[in-house]
Amino acid sequence: SGAGRAAKVPIGFDPIPVSQLDQVRVPAGYRAELLYAWGDPVSDGPAYRADGGNSAAEQGLQSGSHHDGMHFFPFVEGKKLSSTHGLMCINHEYTDDGLLHTGGMADWSAEKVAKSQAAHGVSVIEVKEEGGRWQVVRPSAYARRITAQSAITVSGPAAGSAGLKTAQDPHGRLIFGTFNNCAMGHTPWGTYLTCEENFNGYFKTGKNATPDEKRYGINDKTAGYRWHEFDERFDAAKHPNEPHRFGWVVEIDPWNPMQPPVKRTALGRIKHEGATVTLAADGRVVVYMGDDERFEYIYKYVSRGIYQPGDRAANASLLDEGTLYVAKFGEEGKGRWVALEHGKNGLTAENGFADQAQVLIRTRQAADQVGATKMDRPEWIAVHPKSGEVYVSLTNNVKRGTSEVPGLNAANPRADNVFGHIVRWREAPAKGRHDAGSLDFEWDIFLLAGDPQHPEASRRGNIKGDAFGSPDGLWFDAAGRLWIQTDVSTSVLNQSDYARLGNNQMLVADVATGQVKRFLTGPKGCEITGITSTPDGRALFVNIQHPGEPASERSEPAKATAISHWPHSQFPETPAGRPRSGTVVIRREDGGVVGG
Ligand code: FEO
Ligand code: CA
Ligand code: CA
Ligand code: CA
Repeated sequence: SGAGRAAKVPIGFDPIPVSQLDQVRVPAGYRAELLYAWGDPVSDGPAYRADGGNSAAEQGLQSGSHHDGMHFFPFVEGKKLSSTHGLMCINHEYTDDGLLHTGGMADWSAEKVAKSQAAHGVSVIEVKEEGGRWQVVRPSAYARRITAQSAITVSGPAAGSAGLKTAQDPHGRLIFGTFNNCAMGHTPWGTYLTCEENFNGYFKTGKNATPDEKRYGINDKTAGYRWHEFDERFDAAKHPNEPHRFGWVVEIDPWNPMQPPVKRTALGRIKHEGATVTLAADGRVVVYMGDDERFEYIYKYVSRGIYQPGDRAANASLLDEGTLYVAKFGEEGKGRWVALEHGKNGLTAENGFADQAQVLIRTRQAADQVGATKMDRPEWIAVHPKSGEVYVSLTNNVKRGTSEVPGLNAANPRADNVFGHIVRWREAPAKGRHDAGSLDFEWDIFLLAGDPQHPEASRRGNIKGDAFGSPDGLWFDAAGRLWIQTDVSTSVLNQSDYARLGNNQMLVADVATGQVKRFLTGPKGCEITGITSTPDGRALFVNIQHPGEPASERSEPAKATAISHWPHSQFPETPAGRPRSGTVVIRREDGGVVGG
């Protein structure tokens, strides 16, 4: 195949209608089962208590809340990758503390902060299909939780630099914790990349935030997690470098439970959505990354060294030595990648960048300096498995084109963009494939999301097939089907512009024809996020995040349970009571490839 568009792929199911039910709905001939919900033990640890009564110490041995990006790592059986036995890494993005504790956020305490911190981070679990059912293997030597208190090392150009040093860590090389782990990536050498997104909301600073704090949204209000009240390092007025230690991509080796995770600073410090890994034509490692906030940028990292299959040690520094680029989308469907390298493109001491560590700690300011293209909230990025064409979801941006902020550009063409869109690009080709190592690309808009029934023409979008808005999760299966997951905010879900689009959902697109079919609808008040499959494509794993979330995120148990009882509402064998985030596995009743 040449460096063209992908060929048409079979999409075999009958699409389903929108839904407002408190259930995961899938097409006829498919079945969804619950695998792993908030509070379930990762190994042979403490059982879930339905009244929120598990302690912080117990939470540290159980599934965190708010499941997000994830990946299935198959065991190798002989020379074959197993499709019935693997390790799963699952992100736990954040907490609704009203649901997390028995008494909600009343009587706020050090123990409640510790439990909230233990419910963030990542789960590593062992999973197996036995007797026709997928289950978590307990006990498992691989099982572990990584939380907002785990010891994590630091590598790359910012490691040990002045900006990362704190009273607790005078060497700037040991950071406690990872949190707000949103989307992810995985490497060809079998490791997991977890991405720190809205880290700013955990820090409180003084009334007069510095320009650097403001650029990352650190203020005196916080997002309401209240960690700073009992854990002083989240008081940024007292510990101004502590926020610099978050906003990174963190590498985890699921196969080596004794190995601490590593923050890879060469990949930049932003509100990292995901870190999608592919290879350049010459074998260099390329990582695509979005910074999910209105008017932020799309990045890619290109390693200096070449990926060496089977040589773990040779691959260990590939994410430390390389170049970070940011995207400029031109008006004529042409684009280019601009290097964020100290001493180049105005990234000099005179402009406030003393060295490469400063360029990386202040990645957003560096991208501002080079005039990158401001996008409508870049979320997941997916690379077509055959053509190498790259797709990014731009979830929405209601500030676009309004009086206070920049106008439209060709890649972000709609004012008050409530429904979002998907942009794609093709890197300049080499060796018959779009080469991820190229610095020039061509781009176009794959689709504008919207509601075809909307009274306002600009909000109808141009989807061929089933309607949706706020695309977020984006993933290609091995055959090249594009899976799209939505994250409509609970403040507008099933209301106003979104009145006809139902609960959050997952759809499949044929990128050759643009045809879109709705595959799954979620329970009430949830987001659909996180997707991975077995190598044979016969089991698909999807996360249901924050079922029952009301418009206000720090919800009370009574409010949330009035909205949703999922998973109990669908799987009555699970305890009644609080709604719980969870991983579901979806299979075809005839055992065929999901989506095919
Ligand atoms: Fe955590 Fe941008 O979604
Ligand atoms: Ca997301
Ligand atoms: Ca989102
Ligand atoms: Ca979310």
